Amino acid sequence: MTKGDRGHFATKFGVLMATVGSAVGLGNIWRFPYQMGMNGGAAFLIVYILAVFLVGIPAMVAEFIIGRESHKNTVDAFNAVAPGTHWNLLGYLGVITGGIISCYYCVVVGWTLYYLYISASNSLVGYSPEQYNAIFNHFVVNPYIPTLFLVLVIVITGVIVSRGVQNGIERMSKIMMPMLFILLIALGINSCMMPNAFQGLKFMFVYDASKLTFDGAMDAIGQAFYSLSLGMGCLITYSSYFKDNVNLPKTASQIAIVDLLVAVLSGIMIFPALFSLGMQPDEGAGLVFKVLPSVFSQMALGSVWAVMFYVLLFIAALTSFMSLYEVIISFVVEKFNITRVRACIIMSAIFAVMGIVNSLSFGVLSDLTIFGNSIFDTFDYLSTTILLPFGGIFTSLFVGWRLDRKVINTQLNINSPFKFKAIKVYIFFLRFIIPIAILTMFVFSIIN
Ligand code: PFF
Repeated sequence: MTKGDRGHFATKFGVLMATVGSAVGLGNIWRFPYQMGMNGGAAFLIVYILAVFLVGIPAMVAEFIIGRESHKNTVDAFNAVAPGTHWNLLGYLGVITGGIISCYYCVVVGWTLYYLYISASNSLVGYSPEQYNAIFNHFVVNPYIPTLFLVLVIVITGVIVSRGVQNGIERMSKIMMPMLFILLIALGINSCMMPNAFQGLKFMFVYDASKLTFDGAMDAIGQAFYSLSLGMGCLITYSSYFKDNVNLPKTASQIAIVDLLVAVLSGIMIFPALFSLGMQPDEGAGLVFKVLPSVFSQMALGSVWAVMFYVLLFIAALTSFMSLYEVIISFVVEKFNITRVRACIIMSAIFAVMGIVNSLSFGVLSDLTIFGNSIFDTFDYLSTTILLPFGGIFTSLFVGWRLDRKVINTQLNINSPFKFKAIKVYIFFLRFIIPIAILTMFVFSIIN
């Protein structure tokens, strides 16, 4: 591809798979089950579903409108739809947030690759739960092994992204995403066939009002936001590659529903097995690295299931990491007018250095703290708790209050079988419902 040619996603299926690839990630398979486990199961699920439909889908459509209207990277997208204003700062915020998330996301993607490696080399099954704890704790503090894996992840992602959106991102997503669904369903069925599996299903689906806390509800909104890749211009960037045959509300709904389905399927894969083995659902962030290996160990053909699971986790994580990368690469390519390959080499070097610093913050750099938090936790907190909600609120306010109604109307109705009539309701959501929901969550998480 030449410098001036931005490229686009070739097919509607490609659009769907690439954007689903961004949304479905560690957020669904690693974060969702442990959040649900800690927040009382079904009660959390209900708020989560409401958040996806009432906040997630409208916010996603708002980002799509900006991206497809401008066909530009996040910063220039705001320059194009609001020329001569400071709204482009929101674009810069997206690039910065994406950069910060990338620096620690690559560390966790590296962990998944390492677990894939040890499960494939047959050294993950046959230990006790305490030993699995120790394996994970030793691994993350090691100065070399996590570094090696995160650098590998950066090289793989850099190579895919450097090949452009159609040959790289779209082609990989079209293969990887369907593979992921098949694996997930197979693992889910397997988990449900274990003795006492219904306990886990009951935990997930039988609503118990006493378990619904305000804390849990706020976590559910935050989780929906993170899981749908909202608030940092990622969806603006991807939709800038959409052609004019893509219907935005329909595509956003499909993505959100698939993302939700993957999260629920991840729960079905984990909780029945967990309950069947008499383990607790509220283990927290270590769930997929510390607890699941015990589950696999006690299953027939455990090592095969383990390899399948970590392949799946790695695919999901990689396609999301690709989307974070693309936000920054598209900006760098178009801003500095350099080739994609060069941009990928430069950014990979920067991510590698920052990723290593984040990774070492579990071990040799653990004494280096910012307000008492490790570097990794600071990067996570700053991006997920502060910058993402900030980006989400202002993007929603921008489209609701500032963007030309005609643009919104046109973008919503492109290739629509019926005229999108609910535009007033939609604008109301953008102006009030979404900002208020996110602001409440934001204030609450800062106080906490
Ligand atoms: N949605 C991804 C996940 O669920 O893991 C994480 C993510 C990717 C967040 C891209 C934000 C983003 F822009």
